[in-house]
Amino acid sequence: MYDLVIEDGTLISGKGRRVADICVEDGRVVYIGTRPAGPARRKISAIGRFVVPGFVDTHVHFRDPGHPAKEDWQSGSRAAVSGGVTTVCDMPNTRPPTLTRADFAEKRALAEARSLADFGIWVGAAADNVGEAQALADGPAPLACGIKVFMGASTGPLLVDDATLVRFFEHTRALMGVHAEDERVLERYRESWAGRTPPTHHDSRPAEAARAAVMRLVELTRAHPRPVHVCHVSTAAELEVLEPVRGRLPITTEVSPHHLWLSTDNVLGNFGKVNPPIRPEVDRRAMWAALKRGLVDTVGSDHAPHTREEKEQDYASAPSGMPGVETIFPLLVAAVKQGRVPMERVVQLCAENPARIFGFARKGRVEVGFDADLVVFAEKELVRFTAAQVLSRVGWSPFVGQRVAPKPDQVYAGGTLVAEGGAIVDETRRGRLVTPARGEG
Ligand code: DOR
Ligand code: ZN
Ligand code: ZN
Repeated sequence: MYDLVIEDGTLISGKGRRVADICVEDGRVVYIGTRPAGPARRKISAIGRFVVPGFVDTHVHFRDPGHPAKEDWQSGSRAAVSGGVTTVCDMPNTRPPTLTRADFAEKRALAEARSLADFGIWVGAAADNVGEAQALADGPAPLACGIKVFMGASTGPLLVDDATLVRFFEHTRALMGVHAEDERVLERYRESWAGRTPPTHHDSRPAEAARAAVMRLVELTRAHPRPVHVCHVSTAAELEVLEPVRGRLPITTEVSPHHLWLSTDNVLGNFGKVNPPIRPEVDRRAMWAALKRGLVDTVGSDHAPHTREEKEQDYASAPSGMPGVETIFPLLVAAVKQGRVPMERVVQLCAENPARIFGFARKGRVEVGFDADLVVFAEKELVRFTAAQVLSRVGWSPFVGQRVAPKPDQVYAGGTLVAEGGAIVDETRRGRLVTPARGEG
């Protein structure tokens, strides 16, 4: 007897679509096809609806367990699954900062106790932890999903200088995820604005900083080839550097929804303060063009929630970052409805590609043997996103007012129905650590 059968849904992958039944047992997909399914504990009809793999968001900051007002694994993962994201990868500049095996074990235990979503954990790069990073991310059975490098200072203490970056290129092999803004350029602009508030955050962290950092990454990857994932590419200048080496060097790219939907034309004050900054309209359009042409690989939310109180401070004191894990699906499905991008491409960007790049062998596809992370939705009229729909504990979103698709009708994580129509319907599921498979996955 199956645990779950989803009948007659239109299954969408990067390759196309087909109508089939999906049968689930013990959290995995065990059959897909048109043969009449046997008995099941739960059977739903998805006639006229779509089924896509649960989204894999490899870029979240699930913040601060223990703080009463800030995101933690419970609130962050509730927000995630409500919007069809069933796997998240947490960045190392949260609590506890993840630099050692002990930090990793602590964060893993926090997530295992509270997360509804499956999760990967990044290890951060620092001047003195090459050995710890190797132990966590390299070798045949790595625990960490990758090594995160901050080339420019952002929220939190993690920042590496060029000598440290070179050491990581020389001594580690794992996927390196990079916040690519050049600290020397940032410093120059910081000094030039000292004591004054720039017209926009972008004026104090211009494209030049991002461009210099990706140029250095290209140089280092050429000298020491290893997979590099450039996080939140946000400018035409970066794309110009990356396009000629695309496919020649093992460099992949992520774009974040706030760089696709927001520009300096949107007046959001500190609520729009994020690193890398929201860019001018011309860059936003360049990101769309790149996404459509297949020049970016993944969409990651960079979900970096800070409270209203923190954001309402003066410009210099307000932390950078904005929530986004729950709005990827509503925004991108709206883009599909508006004819900007096909759903097949969305499935590639949000599920297939992140799973492949990170080596998550049972994620990102609806196929036999894969985890039953399934998102079921119907085509619906677009609505305006409202603060009332926000599940993130911070209770605000820079996308309030945007035209979005409703959150999915049903979200299954490992075969368990966890969310329906944007509401959490199971608080008991506990996610598991997802690790990269090396070699044959
Ligand atoms: O705006 C940002 N916020 N950029 C980052 O790189 C970090 C993030 C955070 O952790 O809040
Ligand atoms: Zn970043
Ligand atoms: Zn980030």
